[in-house]
Amino acid sequence: MSIYSRITGTGSYLPPRRVTNDELAAEMATRGLETSDEWIVERTGIKARHFAAPDVVASDLALEASKNALQAANIQASDIDLIIVATSTPDMVFPSTAAILQNKLGIANGCPVFDMQAVCSGFVYALTVADSMIKSGSAKRVLVVGAEVFSRILDFNDRTTCVLFGDGAGAVVLEASDKPGILATELHADGSHVDILCVPGNVSGGQVIGSPLLRMDGQAVFKLAVGVLDKAARAALEKAKMQEADIDWLIPHQANLRIMMSTARKLKLAPEKVVVTVDQHGNTSAASIPLALDHAVRSGQVKPGQNVMLEGVGGGFTWGAVLLTM
Ligand code: UT7
Repeated sequence: MSIYSRITGTGSYLPPRRVTNDELAAEMATRGLETSDEWIVERTGIKARHFAAPDVVASDLALEASKNALQAANIQASDIDLIIVATSTPDMVFPSTAAILQNKLGIANGCPVFDMQAVCSGFVYALTVADSMIKSGSAKRVLVVGAEVFSRILDFNDRTTCVLFGDGAGAVVLEASDKPGILATELHADGSHVDILCVPGNVSGGQVIGSPLLRMDGQAVFKLAVGVLDKAARAALEKAKMQEADIDWLIPHQANLRIMMSTARKLKLAPEKVVVTVDQHGNTSAASIPLALDHAVRSGQVKPGQNVMLEGVGGGFTWGAVLLTM
């Protein structure tokens, strides 16, 4: 049994089609919807997002991100003994996107796989489960992926939501280690807020019952998010017997720059300590944290030995934090 689990490689992938706010606003105007680069930047910090081609599914994005993470960890796909994919936009109702990814990686040889459904908190939930399975001795090398094609569930006639989201994937290899890696985890949910962020549809008898498109009460989500994120981070710090000042980097779920900076302020962290990719990626739900982590690692922001606080928040209502040393 290992004492620690540690991230040994990160990877990410964005579909090539990049859509700026101006391009999106021009396209929406053809359908009589008014928005602007100015409004989107001021309210969210988003300047652009990526959209997948119509024939591309979540497992395709997951596959590219996974290959990059495996290469960074210097291991083969066949070395992986568990795959967890966090997604709310799976390829199929079933089987899991993780099963499809396992097959695409060419390792359909028996390692367990499953999806994690915690919407935008999905990656911190998945990382927490992977950490527990390593610490219990059930796994040694876990591929943890966040992959989303949120463009498929957006209502492009609803200007309050369609400007916010994008597609992408991020992945990490989490390995059993004698060196400290994941230091503390903290997960929460409050199911009384199901209705404020949901895709209410379902499939029955070959028909979609209800809407298959995303609905959000933005202000309600905003209020809940700013109320819980710093508390989750502090709880993780307390478990690890660490202080706010010990955090080298905050990598929050990339939904809204105002929420991210509000959390940083509450944790007394300088804005320079916050990894920001929401400007270029929009909100990629479960993919946003591993995407931001990979960008920060590859750009040289996050260095080995530094302490990183990951924070997720989203539909459910779900939230959580993972404190780790890179
Ligand atoms: O990933 C899960 C987590 N999700 C989130 O964290 C999202 C949290 N919520 C938010 O980020 C913000 O609430 C939004 C960005 C969604 C909205 O920002 P807001 O400051 O709460 O704006 P608002 O909803 O109060 O709307 C202000 C105005 C309204 O017009 P009136 O009523 O003041 O005339 C909206 O109709 O902005 C209008 N509006 C827009 N205008 C131009 C809403 N969407 C748009 C738009 N372009 N796209």
